[in-house]
Amino acid sequence: LKVAVLVSGGGTNLQAILDAVDSGKITNAQVSLVVSNNPNAYALTRAKNHGIEAVCISPKEFESREKFHEALLKKLQESGAELIVLAGYLVAIPPMIVEAFPNKIINIHPSLIPSFCGVGYYGLHVHEAALKRGVKVTGATVHFVDTGTDTGPIILQKAVKIEPDDTPESLQRSVMEKAEWKILPKAINLIANGKVSVDDHIVTISD
Ligand code: GRF
Repeated sequence: LKVAVLVSGGGTNLQAILDAVDSGKITNAQVSLVVSNNPNAYALTRAKNHGIEAVCISPKEFESREKFHEALLKKLQESGAELIVLAGYLVAIPPMIVEAFPNKIINIHPSLIPSFCGVGYYGLHVHEAALKRGVKVTGATVHFVDTGTDTGPIILQKAVKIEPDDTPESLQRSVMEKAEWKILPKAINLIANGKVSVDDHIVTISD
């Protein structure tokens, strides 16, 4: 399965994917392209260090949002990607791209959807909201991307206990280590091995 990964920041989720491919935790899949909207994303360095094509396609380089979307879609189609993984990617995916890759785009979100998700709930804001609400358990979700924000069919979730002394930063770290870096590679492996099916908005995993 040819996989393209879209990133915006440090790329620790990308790294978890690359490590899982190298260790055999992910089979029948390879990352053939990494795209970032941010030229300074360390994720691009991680890709280059791994010999993977790593490009920056930034909205700022285009005279309109539509031209940016067209360039991104063209790059994804040319790469032959069969699965697109949003790994800490902070730019909205337009309907044009969602429709070109139906149930072929997945996203990792650092909460148990439908809690603490939707527009504005990204990065530390997600964990600030969880701490503010006083939930005892949070976690991460891998879901298919549809034209909404964090509204697509849920593939995998993993819960993480919140400690009394957790800060947004410490909570983000533990959700990444204990949940994101586990369920994102696992979801890719399940998809690459034909174990995931979607009916309406319900995902079935055959193990
Ligand atoms: C983090 O906030 C993570 O929870 C979310 O994307 C952000 C950056 O992740 N999934 P990464 O280190 O760039 O993968």
